[in-house]
Amino acid sequence: MGPGASPAQFPVPRALMWAPSFKLPTATSPARRRRRRRRENVAAAAAAAQPFAASFQGETDCTSHASARMFSTSGSSPLLDSTEGNGFKGHSMLAPFTAGWHSTDLEPLIIERSEGSYVYDSKGNKYLDTLAGLWCTALGGSEPRLVKAATDQLNKLPFYHSFWNSTAKPPLDLAEELISMFTAKEMGKVFFTNSGLKQMTLSLPAMHLKFDLPAPFVLHTDCPHYWRFGLPGEAEEEFATRLADNLENLILKEGPETVAAFIAEPVIGAGGVIPPPKTYFEKVIQAVLQKYDVLFIADEVITAFGRLGTMFGSDMYNIKPDLVSMAKALSSAYVPIGAIMVSPEISDVIHSQSNKLGSFAHGFTYSGHPVACAVAIEALKIYQERNIPDHVKQISPRFQEGVKAFAGSPIVGEIRGVGLILGTEFADNKSPNDPFPAEWGVGAIFGAECQKRGMLVRVAGDNIMMSPPLIMTPDEVEELVSIYGDALKATEERVAELKSKKNN
Ligand SMILES: Cc1ncc(COP(=O)(O)O)c(C=O)c1O
Repeated sequence: MGPGASPAQFPVPRALMWAPSFKLPTATSPARRRRRRRRENVAAAAAAAQPFAASFQGETDCTSHASARMFSTSGSSPLLDSTEGNGFKGHSMLAPFTAGWHSTDLEPLIIERSEGSYVYDSKGNKYLDTLAGLWCTALGGSEPRLVKAATDQLNKLPFYHSFWNSTAKPPLDLAEELISMFTAKEMGKVFFTNSGLKQMTLSLPAMHLKFDLPAPFVLHTDCPHYWRFGLPGEAEEEFATRLADNLENLILKEGPETVAAFIAEPVIGAGGVIPPPKTYFEKVIQAVLQKYDVLFIADEVITAFGRLGTMFGSDMYNIKPDLVSMAKALSSAYVPIGAIMVSPEISDVIHSQSNKLGSFAHGFTYSGHPVACAVAIEALKIYQERNIPDHVKQISPRFQEGVKAFAGSPIVGEIRGVGLILGTEFADNKSPNDPFPAEWGVGAIFGAECQKRGMLVRVAGDNIMMSPPLIMTPDEVEELVSIYGDALKATEERVAELKSKKNN
């Protein structure tokens, strides 16, 4: 909650669910209770959206097999030079998502400049940046129009806040533009944040164990990963239906009147790149949510603005969300900004409740920062003028097919993805139940082999993720596929060596 918001203003979170769950006061008649529940759920979800929206869909469950390795790559990884070699003495930054020993013992990769789909490190090495920074530099690293938008705004008005009904012009224009661009469902208003809602990244497994998470009011329903959790002989649609039945049971067990909202990414990103099983959103999950009047929060932080080949992930899967979170590509990451769109119904509740309470007591110093909004407005213009979703549609088949052609590799468990997002999970015997020994660091070996060949990928245990800039050219896709293939071959050889050592 933002400054000034007290739990008393909104129903108090009670139980942990994939969606936040809220215990509500008892009402008198069932109809009144239903109306009141709806109203309060809307208010609670609106309040909860900023801090809790955008939970990585099933991230904990989906990556559980790799959890021990999620944060540590092999100490002998050739990714980084060790202290011994070059006299590196550690650095002073408390580095995010970095093990302590990494920052004391291993020299960081320092990126100095970027150009299109490439970044250059402090030693002059050039890399194809297949994660687009952190799933975010959708327009690449050198878009002059974004730089100009920022510079113009900096020269005109570098900052003004948006509290107490003061604001600058860019946040107003950006809010209007976002509402008109999102066509999957009518939206009412937009609330601006500074990022994609960081709290949700904290749902990662190691955080659960050691950093007092999960928060006690969010429950996780089943992870929709067919390869890992489908039953023998179960078709994909049947899997999706079983998950919906389980969700329904969970809602009933918890008490529908206590469930404020359900949160999901259209395609799970950092949880291992997991597209939903067929019919999951379209036919199955939304039917359950509608039946119990549970709000749907679509976390579009990764999928918005063309990543899947449609402007929003909601368009791809026919999702009709009540709240939508966005960030990353919103400004192509040139300036930090996030946004939450809420349905007219939710904005009406905020309107009336804030009248009663005296204020919508929720906001940040930098909500609607004019420079960030100016850059985002320009980014949205570019997505539309250049028809970026269509460009993704054009180049993604080769990206997907080119990489998926390596799915037969003996060290690959599954390669999965859609549009310009793709994940590889290494496993022995093609089985989700046969992970490689953690200490082999197979994912880290592959990452290092890519890096040696001039390409950066995201390594999370034995999961590899790619989400390249949306402006990628066909030649760059070919380069990516070729480096991927060579790095995979080298990794296969290394795994064969490790296996034979183990057997001797
Ligand atoms: C789907 C999703 N939601 C939310 C976030 C959090 O975004 P931020 O790190 O900008 O707060 C991320 C970050 O990767 C994400 O991938």
